[in-house]
Amino acid sequence: DKGGHKHFMAKEIAEQPGVIGQALSHYVTDAGEIILPDGGVDFTKIDRITMVACGTAFYACLVAKYWFEQVARIPVEVDVASEFRYREPPIPANTLALFVSQSGETADTLAALRYCDGKAQRTLSVINVPESSIARESDLSLPIYAGVEVGVASTKAFTCQLTVLILLVLKAAHARGEMDDAKLADHISALRGLPSIINTALEQNETMREAAFKLSAARDVLFLGRGKMYPLALEGALKLKEISYIHAEAYASGELKHGPIALVDEDVPVIVMAPRDALFDKTVSNMQEVMARNGKVILISDAEGLAEASNGVWSTIEMPKVADLLTPILYAIPAQLLAYHTAVAKGTDVDQPRNLAKSVTVE
Ligand code: F6R
Repeated sequence: DKGGHKHFMAKEIAEQPGVIGQALSHYVTDAGEIILPDGGVDFTKIDRITMVACGTAFYACLVAKYWFEQVARIPVEVDVASEFRYREPPIPANTLALFVSQSGETADTLAALRYCDGKAQRTLSVINVPESSIARESDLSLPIYAGVEVGVASTKAFTCQLTVLILLVLKAAHARGEMDDAKLADHISALRGLPSIINTALEQNETMREAAFKLSAARDVLFLGRGKMYPLALEGALKLKEISYIHAEAYASGELKHGPIALVDEDVPVIVMAPRDALFDKTVSNMQEVMARNGKVILISDAEGLAEASNGVWSTIEMPKVADLLTPILYAIPAQLLAYHTAVAKGTDVDQPRNLAKSVTVE
């Protein structure tokens, strides 16, 4: 049942405020305490975290790396499961091994989990399907409560993964004395406001549809972002290529001048994801390098960022203002809707893209 939407993907994008609220209510008490099942994780006994996943779940891990390192000051290594499992990396004893998977059945992620079992101090999984193999075989498993995801392109699972991961980060930071009670309470209250902020972002649907209509004529598209927007750029590029079949690449903005700028001309739209944060000016200067080469920029930012930097850009998409820590969850919305509307404009099979399966149980 598509609930009145044309595609499951559209329905699942629209469900995000509700399911994120659900995920929060499962883990956060009325008093604002974060409760993990089965005694949770003792973050004071952990020196490092190794995160392993595939595809969109891998990008959720990349975001979590920024969060864990900046907020909880725990070093994090992230790898795609198919590389990790055959590299057979050493796993120091004080490692928390964390696996993220919507289906909980991804063959490479499961193999990586089995490799870490008995080596890492603890194996933890963040999954959507509680009865899945990855959930059963990890020491502790945290459901994301996104509900069934039918569209092959992952949407609500990604934002719910990020929601559960930020809760883990806050829990870790608090336990390790990196964050006091007052600061934790601030973050919890910002998280509680997130569903309504996402609703506001979803109201920009028409602007995103118009930008997507322009994108649908492109052969190649670049996505740029810095810091925790870099994984979002990767996610935007993956969504676009998998459902619209347009070749899309993401780069950390600072990498632009190390090669990819050679691709830029008036035929290559460049999507810049840049909330008005501490890295904004750096990203904007990369964006200006693109415009100086006639690149067509779609700038995604908040009102303040757009007021400062939208001169001369091709299109703008305005996101509401959100607490800095939460920008990756919010900016998933334009990443998803740009891809969705581009695919619809091209007439591709949005829910069942060619060559792809929802659950990759073979390697
Ligand atoms: C992209 C997408 C895939 C999955 C990947 C991992 O939209 O859906 O990249 O994220 O196949 O799947 P799970 O999360 O089930 O392990």
